[in-house]
Amino acid sequence: MQMTNDKGKVERASERAETGLDIRGGDSKFPAKCSSDSEVSLSQQMMPSDANPLGNVHGGYIMKLGAEAGGLAARRHARRPVVTGAVDSMSFLSPVRVGHLLTLRARVNWVGKSSIEVGVRVEAENPVTGELAHTNSAFAVFVALDDNGRPIPVPPLILETEEERRRWLEGEERQEHRLQHWRKKSLVDG
Ligand SMILES: CC(C)(COP(=O)(O)OP(=O)(O)OC[C@H]1O[C@@H](n2cnc3c(N)ncnc32)[C@H](O)[C@@H]1OP(=O)(O)O)[C@@H](O)C(=O)NCCC(=O)NCCS
Repeated sequence: MQMTNDKGKVERASERAETGLDIRGGDSKFPAKCSSDSEVSLSQQMMPSDANPLGNVHGGYIMKLGAEAGGLAARRHARRPVVTGAVDSMSFLSPVRVGHLLTLRARVNWVGKSSIEVGVRVEAENPVTGELAHTNSAFAVFVALDDNGRPIPVPPLILETEEERRRWLEGEERQEHRLQHWRKKSLVDG
């Protein structure tokens, strides 16, 4: 089997064994991809229309931008439309003010069969002082869909660094918790 990623790397299954690439999740019929192939960075200046009368940007607006950045990373990994399956709770560590430059970095942490966990880190920069604040981080699961709107398998993920292996394990654990919680809730809701 020949495999290629968006950086033009080409691998065969036998070569993978030799090169020792760490490839996990997804469906092996697709070329495996690195998280750097789908990484997204979005920057946007915060405007008065994004904020309350005190000049603090609405949390909901930051969540929307996070969902957009995360969804884009998942879509780039799957090269399919995706829907949001779950968004983990989010805390805001410092206020974002009108005039700040918000940067959202989204990367794929973990992939199941059709599901993709993306981590989004949000930073706000005061462009006048250069002060940079980590405002929040969030994790969300997106599900790739076929042309009939049903879940469809996604490419496997190549883990290149120890940091990526740590992120994978943590993502896998979070997904187990989400599904446990979701199943319990489904039972309660009937
Ligand atoms: C997400 C959705 C496609 C899942 O469809 P489904 O028929 O339940 O499909 P499945 O049970 O086969 O699950 C598909 C995948 O989603 C994952 N998933 C489903 N619900 C999940 C949840 N609450 N949290 C995390 N993952 C979830 C499953 O684990 C599975 O992953 P896998 O293929 O990697 O094993 C469907 O529930 C849906 O369309 N929800 C609405 C999405 C939406 O409108 N989002 C907001 C706007 S984008």
